[in-house]
Amino acid sequence: MAPRDAEARDGGGRPGADVGLPAGFMLRPMTVWDIPEVLAHEHALFPLDAWPARFYEEELAQVGPAGGADAHGRPATRDYRVVVRDETADVDAGEHPGDIVGYGGIMVAGDVADVQTIGTVTAVQGRGIGAAQLRWMLEEAAARGARGLMLEVRASNDPARRLYTRHGFADVRVRRRYYPGGEDAVVMLKEL
Ligand SMILES: CC(C)(COP(=O)(O)OP(=O)(O)OC[C@H]1O[C@@H](n2cnc3c(N)ncnc32)[C@H](O)[C@@H]1OP(=O)(O)O)[C@@H](O)C(=O)NCCC(=O)NCCS
Repeated sequence: MAPRDAEARDGGGRPGADVGLPAGFMLRPMTVWDIPEVLAHEHALFPLDAWPARFYEEELAQVGPAGGADAHGRPATRDYRVVVRDETADVDAGEHPGDIVGYGGIMVAGDVADVQTIGTVTAVQGRGIGAAQLRWMLEEAAARGARGLMLEVRASNDPARRLYTRHGFADVRVRRRYYPGGEDAVVMLKEL
């Protein structure tokens, strides 16, 4: 069994304990207290379709462990996590342990799970944090019995599409003019 502090740091022994985050970062569940910090990043990462606070509040009310209940006593269908700077690691000047540098969430309701959102703050992109987030999502979706993980991505979002393709996602269809502004969405699926 992992030592107590390691268990706390990896999200309590749930899938996601060993998703290959780069040194100095750790994964933990997202809470409502994280919403203001997440929203600050949201506008930078999704300038055309940032979620408002209400979306995060509604999503987090449906969070819970596999087989557990959400805030309304219904079967939990969501899991959201944040990547933060590890409090035990050295941090750069001006940054703080616990700062959120990545976040994402999945919905698992039925056979195919969905990536609801995924982002890595610009300053730490290209270090494998997005890949690590995708790994916890794939593990968690499989642990909850999903047979596939699906997502929608802007057709022009090459960094995201490369990340997904590298992790075994394949294009399944295009949703024409899906996004505000009229851009197409590419629907991608990885079978689990
Ligand atoms: C898409 C997104 C989440 C990827 O996050 P990320 O943390 O940069 O992802 P990774 O670091 O795992 O991978 C990105 C690149 O870094 C490279 N990389 C990963 N670890 C690396 C390392 N240690 N050294 C050098 N390069 C590395 C990867 O190979 C990849 O390169 P490629 O795109 O040329 O193939 C991020 O770009 C983002 O938040 N974008 C804005 C929001 C968004 O579009 N979200 C997706 C909506 S569908």
